[in-house]
Amino acid sequence: MAKIVSIFGFLFSLLVLLPSQISAEESEAKESVLTLDNTNFHDTVTKHEFIVVEFYAPWCGHCKQLAPEYEKAASILSSLETPIVLAKVDANEEKNKELASEYEVKGFPTIKILRNGGKNIQEYKGPREADGIVEYLKKQNGPASTEIKSADEASAFIGDKKIVVVGVFPKFSGEEYDNFLALADKLRADYDIAHTLDAKYLPRGDSSVSGPVVRLFKPFDELFVDSKDFNVEALVKFVEESSIPLVTIFNNEPSNHPFVVKYFNSPNAKAMLFVNFTSASTEAFKAKYREIAEQYKQQGISFLIGDVESSQGAFQYFGLKEDQVPLIIIQHTDGKKFFKPNLEPDHLAAWLKAYKDGDVAPFVKSEPIPATNNEPVKVVVGETLQEIVFNSGKNVLLEFYAPWCGHCKSLAPILDEVAVSFQSDPDVVIAKLDATANDIPSDTFEVQGYPTLYFRSASGKVSQYDGGRTKEDIIEFIQKNKDTTGAAQQEVEQPKAPAQQEVEQPKDEL
Ligand SMILES: *[C@@H]1O[C@H](CO)[C@@H](O)[C@H](O)[C@H]1NC(C)=O
Repeated sequence: MAKIVSIFGFLFSLLVLLPSQISAEESEAKESVLTLDNTNFHDTVTKHEFIVVEFYAPWCGHCKQLAPEYEKAASILSSLETPIVLAKVDANEEKNKELASEYEVKGFPTIKILRNGGKNIQEYKGPREADGIVEYLKKQNGPASTEIKSADEASAFIGDKKIVVVGVFPKFSGEEYDNFLALADKLRADYDIAHTLDAKYLPRGDSSVSGPVVRLFKPFDELFVDSKDFNVEALVKFVEESSIPLVTIFNNEPSNHPFVVKYFNSPNAKAMLFVNFTSASTEAFKAKYREIAEQYKQQGISFLIGDVESSQGAFQYFGLKEDQVPLIIIQHTDGKKFFKPNLEPDHLAAWLKAYKDGDVAPFVKSEPIPATNNEPVKVVVGETLQEIVFNSGKNVLLEFYAPWCGHCKSLAPILDEVAVSFQSDPDVVIAKLDATANDIPSDTFEVQGYPTLYFRSASGKVSQYDGGRTKEDIIEFIQKNKDTTGAAQQEVEQPKAPAQQEVEQPKDEL
């Protein structure tokens, strides 16, 4: 379970960047990692055929975890026959910010492999511990494609757990071969790539081919696919499309994780079917689900089947319960979700069709609507957010809180007093929402910490409140920003088109 929570944690950390505490700089011992800044960066990079640069920030927890491993790797790599230089840049320092934006640093740590004097920039996609870093970088510094010269080499290289791209050529020259090497250069960070003169060395498939042909080996679906279109762009497309399973499997098997990461990185809508892999109906689900995936795969949907035993992280994230299994949930990239609990295999096709036809209402994670809501501070849940905040025609101050958050507890009596002081004003509502148990429309509210306060005026102007946390400050803010158009008039005008919403973005942490 820890592994799966961590893979979800990892995926979500791609979405949200949370700075951790700033702590004292560690004392610097002798370092193998080269420290670069705006004064020496370009000169240094230009001199290297191959150099690795980590952009970090002193407050970033993942960077601190990486630091000793990176240092250890640097020390090993510096003593190789062909040494590899690891460098770092403190991207938090004002003078280095231009460098960070030049290299499109969006989160920390960001590691780039710079080749050919910096002309060629590649994302580092390897492990984060010393031995893994060393192995990955040795490979990245070698040829992009390895020659296979025997059947033993082929089976060691290809195996049956990962994707491997192999070019078969009658000779290692000519346009096809050059294009294949260009492909290898482009994709070397993500794939294992090899070339051979003899298809007979290769496992799987017809070995009488003499090439030129590119054969992609994969541990799922048809197990290998061939392409003879040697246009570089076509080859890239072929490799990327062929390496996505029709149905991605989500369980505790580590060899599946790269495909899960690929799945979550896809721009498609994501259909996720959760079943208990040990239950008798699983095979029937898998069969029906594959049929559906086959039918809809060209329509912007990617499919995943997950074992409920491995999916606690996902269940928590979506607010799902185990007694709803078997269930399917579809999430769009804008966060909109569609959900069907307690499915049977025979329901799948009809539900997917209804979803496609727009006949399934979106699913909102929500606590139950409270039976009474008479306290001065009103309780808002996922299902009442539209009604109370967006469509009430009132000025609403909304607190996003977490039950465990201490600052929220200190704020609670203050909000109570604010609410009491507005009790005679029908235009003003003070409300709170447990952001851990209810969906928040992320296109309107950006909630990265608790408490977060937003104000939506009666006319629809949304702004984050970042003033003082005293009763007086909050009351003054509401008095100044509320619209006094009159609630009664607003109410008869409904329903109306959502007003243009202005949102203040929180400061960029970079
Ligand atoms: C999955 O099924 C097995 C066997 O039927 C059962 O023991 C287990 O509790 C189930 N797991 C969940 C999370 O429901």
